[in-house]
Amino acid sequence: MALLEATGIVKSFGKLTALNDAGLVVSENEFHGLIGPNGSGKSTLMKCVAGAETPTAGAIRFAGNDITGLSPADRARAGMSLKFQITSVFPALTLYDNILLSLQADTSLFGLMLSRSRGALHDQVMTMLEQFRLVHRAHEAAATLSHGQQQWLEIAMALAARPRLLLLDEPTGGMSLEERRVTGDLLQPIKSHCSLVIVEHDLDFIRDICDRLTVLDQGQVLATGSVADIQANSKVQEVYLRRA
Ligand SMILES: Nc1ncnc2c1ncn2[C@@H]1O[C@H](COP(=O)(O)OP(=O)(O)OP(=O)(O)O)[C@@H](O)[C@H]1O
Ligand SMILES: [Mg+2]
Repeated sequence: MALLEATGIVKSFGKLTALNDAGLVVSENEFHGLIGPNGSGKSTLMKCVAGAETPTAGAIRFAGNDITGLSPADRARAGMSLKFQITSVFPALTLYDNILLSLQADTSLFGLMLSRSRGALHDQVMTMLEQFRLVHRAHEAAATLSHGQQQWLEIAMALAARPRLLLLDEPTGGMSLEERRVTGDLLQPIKSHCSLVIVEHDLDFIRDICDRLTVLDQGQVLATGSVADIQANSKVQEVYLRRA
């Protein structure tokens, strides 16, 4: 059974149809790349999956349940986590406190300090900081991080609650080549317990880390399959040549 199954997704914004019968199927422990030209509907599909947009039509199933009508908060509780392009880091807070807050988004920091489960939370925060090579900066303000490190902090925040599915929309935007390579390395260990849907324009990056790809074009799925299948697909090659 697939972990995520979005089918027949239509999303209209007034007269514009951003998604026209699009779909996305992701298995457990799969890294899935969502690619396609600008404006093809990638971010809109991610938002429909996360609940940030309500599809005009279609159904979304997650871990065997129909979640089409659930709020973003309920989807998060069900095990979905996302990082969109707009930063959600609090620059004046330390890295440690940023992750702590993401773990308990609806509790005040003061309340967390007093909470009896603080020991367990501390371990979770430190594990995430270690995994994303940020532990030596734990008590510095997030504002002091480089752009790439801020992106990693945000991914760590999205992963802190140990979701079953992580959604990343262009996480390597503005990163250097080296930072991108490191991002790929940092994501690999999560595969043992989490699936990933990642939107990226860097095809080399996405080819290196993903198992399967879905290509959107004008709001529809042009192709879906293994990286090798997609690379050999003449319709896909045509879309990318048309864009170049
Ligand atoms: N909130 C909105 N209101 C109106 N139109 C929108 C809205 N969000 C997206 N669109 C339109 O829907 C279409 C798909 O947009 P979307 O952002 O999903 O594309 P994308 O594939 O993520 O593009 P990019 O690669 O540039 O990020 C575009 O024509 C866009 O202008
Ligand atoms: Mg987008």
